[in-house]
Amino acid sequence: MAEIKTIGILTSGGDAPGMNAAIRSVTRAAIFNDLKVKGIYRGYRGLIDDEIVEFKTQNVSNIIQQGGTILKTARCAEFMTVEGRQLAYDILRRHQIDALVVIGGDGSLTGARVFANEFNFPIIGLPGTIDNDLYGTDSTIGYDTALNTIMDCVDKIRDTATSHERLFFIEVMGRNAGFLALNGAIASGAEAAIIPEISTEVDQLAELIQNGFRKSKNSSIVLVAESPITGGAMGMAERVKKEFPRYDVRVTILGHLQRGGSPTAHDRILASRMGAAAIDALMEDQRNVMIGIKNDDIVYVPFSKAIKNDKPINRELLNTLRRLSI
Ligand code: F6P
Repeated sequence: MAEIKTIGILTSGGDAPGMNAAIRSVTRAAIFNDLKVKGIYRGYRGLIDDEIVEFKTQNVSNIIQQGGTILKTARCAEFMTVEGRQLAYDILRRHQIDALVVIGGDGSLTGARVFANEFNFPIIGLPGTIDNDLYGTDSTIGYDTALNTIMDCVDKIRDTATSHERLFFIEVMGRNAGFLALNGAIASGAEAAIIPEISTEVDQLAELIQNGFRKSKNSSIVLVAESPITGGAMGMAERVKKEFPRYDVRVTILGHLQRGGSPTAHDRILASRMGAAAIDALMEDQRNVMIGIKNDDIVYVPFSKAIKNDKPINRELLNTLRRLSI
């Protein structure tokens, strides 16, 4: 295989806390291995627009603690076209970039996979998303920070929920996955999580109502995963207002605050390990794999597996939540 001398690095899709720690790690591990590093701004959009700057170790100083991404990010429709990808390839050639490290979620790695196959171009992916919905990794970069943010918010809402004896539906992100809702519910001691993964199996709201929410408590908190499948927190609240008007219902949508903030130690360490592993993977002639973590070991997950969109939820967690909310 052709020798890799210069790598490009970009962040794409929704930002996630820990992306900066990953950028830092990739950059420094690459320089440590005598590779040149070029930072590509604004994801695939910036690649097509030629927003590329050489990165030295100082470019990534003092960023490990920062949320967001210093490289900026974007969602780019043009990269979904053959013409857009050809432009991107031409720019990479012009900058003599021999391989890419792409940090992003499902959509970003799907784009990476198509591009890598089309141009036989080496790409290593890092799972950067708060959603934790990539197959083959126990955790994605940003997920732990978002979970902690959710936990802090729910702790606060609980104070007012208890004072007013209200039922709160709190909507959390996750796109079509319920990891944030399920683990957020366990961490914050919520009564239930309504998640898309089991929406087709049971009417989760009916189940909750049948159980009288939490009979022994005078307030209830239910986390709802955003998704057309669950109907979101608004959908749940509307149903309760119609079918069970005796409940005093309120809705909180946590929204983008879940994406911000300084990354937790867990995410910084994960991002640092994964970033260095991306360079190891390239040195070992690995191509078109996502770096994952399984039982605390770094693993290489082929893009085709990582993005196949059916990372299962852990049923044991669901059972735990059910048992603890009696
Ligand atoms: O994929 C990360 C994520 O935050 C999802 O949880 C959410 O559905 C989506 O991005 C929101 O995207 P945007 O920031 O483009 O509104």
